[in-house]
Amino acid sequence: MARLLLGVSGGIAAYKALEVVRLATKAGHAVRVVQTPTAQRFVGAASFAALTGAPVLTDEFERDPARGAFGDQEPPSHDPASHLELVRNADAYLIAPASANTVAKLAHGLADNLLTSAALAASCPVLVAPAMNHHMWEHPATQANLALLRDRGVTVIDPGTGALATKHEWGTGRLAEPAELVAAFEAVVPTGARPWDGLKVLITAGGTREPIDAVRYVGNRSSGRMGYAVAEEAAALGAAVTVIAANVGLPRHPRVRYLDVETAAQLADACAAEFAAADVLVMAAAVADFRPAAAVDGKLKKSGRDELALVLEPTPDVLSGLAARRRPEQTLVGFAAEHGAGALEYGRDKLTRKGLDAVVVNDVSVPGVGFDAAENEVTILTAGGDEHVPRTTKAEVARAILGSIDRLRADATTAS
Ligand code: CTP
Repeated sequence: MARLLLGVSGGIAAYKALEVVRLATKAGHAVRVVQTPTAQRFVGAASFAALTGAPVLTDEFERDPARGAFGDQEPPSHDPASHLELVRNADAYLIAPASANTVAKLAHGLADNLLTSAALAASCPVLVAPAMNHHMWEHPATQANLALLRDRGVTVIDPGTGALATKHEWGTGRLAEPAELVAAFEAVVPTGARPWDGLKVLITAGGTREPIDAVRYVGNRSSGRMGYAVAEEAAALGAAVTVIAANVGLPRHPRVRYLDVETAAQLADACAAEFAAADVLVMAAAVADFRPAAAVDGKLKKSGRDELALVLEPTPDVLSGLAARRRPEQTLVGFAAEHGAGALEYGRDKLTRKGLDAVVVNDVSVPGVGFDAAENEVTILTAGGDEHVPRTTKAEVARAILGSIDRLRADATTAS
């Protein structure tokens, strides 16, 4: 948990600052917001107040009901000056969006509103995320102002390139994505502030593809959504996350490291290289149990054939192999995608047979959950008992899995 002071200046991208607040609070950070008067023409204070659960300030002379305190702090007994107290308490000050005008004021030390006075008083790290029309972005004055800020140690999070707010305009100037902004904030706050800081988490996701010839493969319907959700939630708790991604086409989280693989053999090699350094392994990938015994060089021709038989050979069970050489303090979580009756029994069998700490069982015969779906319904099996997670988003299921890992690790610490 860290304290984020978010300064919102005037621009259409102010609406994206709401998402920054949502992601940061979801990650367990305490957030306070200050706005410029122009920012309030784009997004009202009530929206930020509702998401942060704290008063939003615009004016230096406005009384702060929280007296400069963040959600995890007791307000002081006196009324401090807000522009001093907020930055004194914050672990970092992120100004997003920073308009061309606000960038200019910050560069030249102007302090004509609460946002800019707080920036001048800040001894914590300051991050500036500009957002503006591409002509304003490209103007030498803006670029010189940003160079001044960078020289003074301010982290500038460059805007992206794409469609801009004005109709038919395209160029550089759109605010960086909210997840990138939260990641930039987390990169500058002291480590140890979040519950999983320092923990190394290895996750496999997606489905392997086993070549039949140069263009065809034997594969499965796993999209990688469940593994990616676990990765994002673990990164939000502060963990250093590596995902071994088997054929996943989903958006990637800026704070997660991704290693791409295609086949079960490549996934096994990547796991072998990464496993020793991991504290936690979450094996969400659907790994092929069988592969074509011999992939054909080039492309198989259909001419002259009435039928085509594929000979498949078993692949090594990656998870069992890793479990056989685990360190006792590592936490190993497997998945069991079962079809229909007996799912929990099969899952329990995998828990003991594969030597795991937890198995996440889902019944893929239920429509709308599991493979290639946005939602899931699972039962998390551990030696200590079962937890049923009713149908919900994969992000919620991921949080339940991380909760189980927390309990398993706490039990292991007490036992040792
Ligand atoms: N798994 C693995 N290597 C394989 C196959 C599976 O590491 N070659 C892992 C999966 O990532 C998952 C767990 O093992 O975490 C369970 O996979 P599953 O295919 O359901 O288990 P199997 O033991 O192959 O049993 P089944 O007979 O149900 O296929």
